[in-house]
Formats: sequence, C-alpha cells, structure tokens
Amino acid sequence: HRSWAEPFKIKMVELLKTTTIEERQRAIAEAGYNTFLLRSEDVYIDLLTDSGVSAMSDRQWAGMMLGDESYAGSANFYHLEATVRECYSYAHMVPTHQGRAAEHILSKLLIKPGDYVPGNMYFTTTRLHQELAGGTFVDVIVDEAHDPQSELPFKGNVDIAKLDALVERVDAKNIPYVSLATCVNMAGGQPVSMANLRELRDWCTRHKVLLVHDMTRVAENAWFIKQREVGYADKSVAAIVHEICALTDAATMSAKKDALVNIGGFLAMNDPDLYRRACDMIVVYEGLHTYGGLAGRDMEAMAIGIRESIDDNHIRARIGQVEYLGAKLQAAGVPIVRPVGGHAVFLDARRILPHVAQELLPAQALAAALYVDSGVRAMERGVVSAGRDAKTGQNYYPKLELVRLTIPRRVYTQAHMDVVAESVIEVTEQAASIRGLRFVYEPEQLRFFLGRFEPV
Ligand code: F0G
Repeated sequence: HRSWAEPFKIKMVELLKTTTIEERQRAIAEAGYNTFLLRSEDVYIDLLTDSGVSAMSDRQWAGMMLGDESYAGSANFYHLEATVRECYSYAHMVPTHQGRAAEHILSKLLIKPGDYVPGNMYFTTTRLHQELAGGTFVDVIVDEAHDPQSELPFKGNVDIAKLDALVERVDAKNIPYVSLATCVNMAGGQPVSMANLRELRDWCTRHKVLLVHDMTRVAENAWFIKQREVGYADKSVAAIVHEICALTDAATMSAKKDALVNIGGFLAMNDPDLYRRACDMIVVYEGLHTYGGLAGRDMEAMAIGIRESIDDNHIRARIGQVEYLGAKLQAAGVPIVRPVGGHAVFLDARRILPHVAQELLPAQALAAALYVDSGVRAMERGVVSAGRDAKTGQNYYPKLELVRLTIPRRVYTQAHMDVVAESVIEVTEQAASIRGLRFVYEPEQLRFFLGRFEPV
C-alpha cells in the first residue's frame, strides 16, 4: 500500500505558546467556561473552527500583492467572478465580507413574513437570518442525521417525504426556497449524495421552489461523493463540485472554509433579476457590488484559493487528516459521530458524560475540560448552540449534543493530531469527574458566541 502525505511543504511557521494546567484553569474561568472567550495565545492547538484559520499558499500571498484597491470595478472582482462562473457554474456573484452577510442579503430578498424555509438541518447564522426575515425554519434532513451512531454514507440527505409533508401543510407559495447545505456542519460534516440532490432538484422544479445552496464545504462533499457514490470514482473533485452547483439556483458561500481564505464570502445566482436586486441591497449593507466589504487583495486570494480547494490531492490530504484523528479516537473507544465528517471529528458528549443532563450543558462542559487538560480548544455544538425557539422562548433540545474538534486546513501536523487524541482519550477516561454548567450571562441571539457559564 502506498501512503499519502500532504501535497505541500512548509515555508513559514508560527510559534506556539505552552501553558501550565493552573494557567489554563484560570484562563477558562476568566472566559466564563466558553472556549470562544479564551485568548488564542492561551491555546496550544486551536480546533475551535475551520473558519478563516487556513494557511494560505505562497500563490495566494503573491495574489495579495496584486490587490487592485479601486472603489469600483477592481480587476480582482472580475477574476473572482470568472472563477465562480468556471468552477461553481453560477452566472452572477456579489462578494460579501463573509458567509452570514450573504445569508442576510439572500434572506431579506427572498423571505416574506410567514414563509417556511426547509433545510437539511439548521446552521446557527443561516436559521437566524431566516427568522429575522420573518421565516420559520423546517428541518427536512433524513432522521439518521440526528443519530450519531448511524453509519449511513450520506447523512446530509434531504428526506423528500418531509418536503412533501410540508407542502401538504403549507402552500408551496409560502416556501421561497429550499436551503441545502453540502457537507452539513451541524450533522457532523455529513455529505449529500448526487442522487438525492437530483431528486431534490426535480422536487423544486415541480413545485416552483428555488434551490439555494450553502456551499461553504462543497469541495469536501464532492470528495465523499467520489469515494462513496456509484459512478463517481473516476471523476475529479472539480467536476463533481461543478455538477453539484449546476443543480442549484443560487448559493451562499463562506469562503473562510473550503476556499482557503482568512476572510470573505459571496452570494451567487443564475437569475439576472435576483442578481440586480442583490446588487441594490449589497450597496446598503456591504459595499459596492464589485467589492462587497472586501479589499481587492482579499478577492484575489479567494479566486486563487477556490482553484486550490477543488484539487483532488488537496482534499484527499485535508479529509485524510480528519479521518486520521477520528480513527485514533474510535480505536480507543471514544464515542464520536460516525462516519467521520469532512471538517471535524465530533465527540458525542451525551455518551461521554451520561451523568450530566442536557439542561446542564454537557458539551459545553466537555469542551472546557478538554481545554484545561491540554490547551486544545474545541467548540460546543449542542443545546447552547441550538438556542431558543424565537416564538416560544423555550430552549431547543437537539438530539446531537456534540463537541467539535474542527481541523483547520493545511495548518497542523499529524503529531498535533496525536496530542489531541491523547488528551481526548484521557479526558474521556476521567469524564465522571466533569460537572455540568449553567448560564450566568445568556445573549439573546447566537448565545454560544458570547455566553458565560459557571460550574453547577
Ligand atoms: N454556513 C455554514 C455551513 C457555516 O459553517 C458557516 C460558518 C456559515 C454559513 C457562516 O459563515 O462565519 O463566514 O459568516 N461556520 C463557522 C463554524 C463559524 O465555525 O462552523 P461566516
């Protein structure tokens, strides 16, 4: 057997600080037991997110020097627009400062109060913008996505029967679009199959409902299609990415993930009228339609990053590293979401901390304990992230109560993954000593970012 290594070598390094356990205990208490509120210099291995934390290539950095910082009509915009057309198939594109800005504009343009927006599991910012525009999110992902132990190869798939049931209940006129994420973040980085996407395309066409693609991790989804779906083994990731996008009508993109940049995103579409309306709105909230809150150099780095992100060797190494960590944890018996997803390994906090009730925020507590053990920073993806129902004010209690070990792209080595695995195994073995947490400060929106907690 031949083994694969990273398709790059390292040209510049950033030194890391190490801390003592006493320092980490103090730091997490000062941060209100919320890993978002830690200072990054107090973190050893940062697996908080894969967003905006990738290492750019020498070519991307060279592209930064080609920034055309003109207010209007920057050359970098036209390069980015051409790249989005060629790689992702969408005819039109407006840049935004990041993904949620595209979600904001899109939700305002398409959703009217009283509408329903079905999606394959919620994402925090996506659902919030749908709700702020007056819409109600409806989860139409397959049931298996809510079961961390189900081994289904495409746990991101939409359950078409759930869409049919929704159309029975509310008129299709009140469904402006279906929101489809590729490699569903909250389900554990789980992919959608091309077969399911085709079925969904037909459904949307039949009911005259738009299909909007959250394409934040589309290249990772394409890799899973190549690995798992009949007929795709010999296609390139680039070709599969294009095929996925071409089945959808519009897209929101956080380029801080797949596209290997530290900041940036866009809203893309095929309909020229929707494009015109998006341009009218982008000038209100982001900037002129040819920069949308970004510097010219950021758009250049994005255009280059998009091409690097759909290269088979890049994705193989990227997902291979996530799978390496997942396999180590699984071999040691740590309960994780199966199959291992594209961008992260998700720890099943319900099974690791069976003695902590969901009201006492087990995943939040587990993430804090992991930081204290080794300085590894992870993120809660459970009841804290799920927030409250906007209408009833009640907590959402999601089936998945997870801690996400998110792997930045092209940043850490295999030895870093070994250290992470050792620490997670150690914390899991001593889980009985971990206590729950309660809120001492709960923000109204997206409470996981700035919330503060204390041990119960
Ligand atoms: N959609 C998905 C699927 C995401 O994962 C994110 C961000 C966004 C939209 C919003 O994009 O951050 O550029 O505004 N996810 C990050 C994460 C924050 O850590 O999962 P943004």
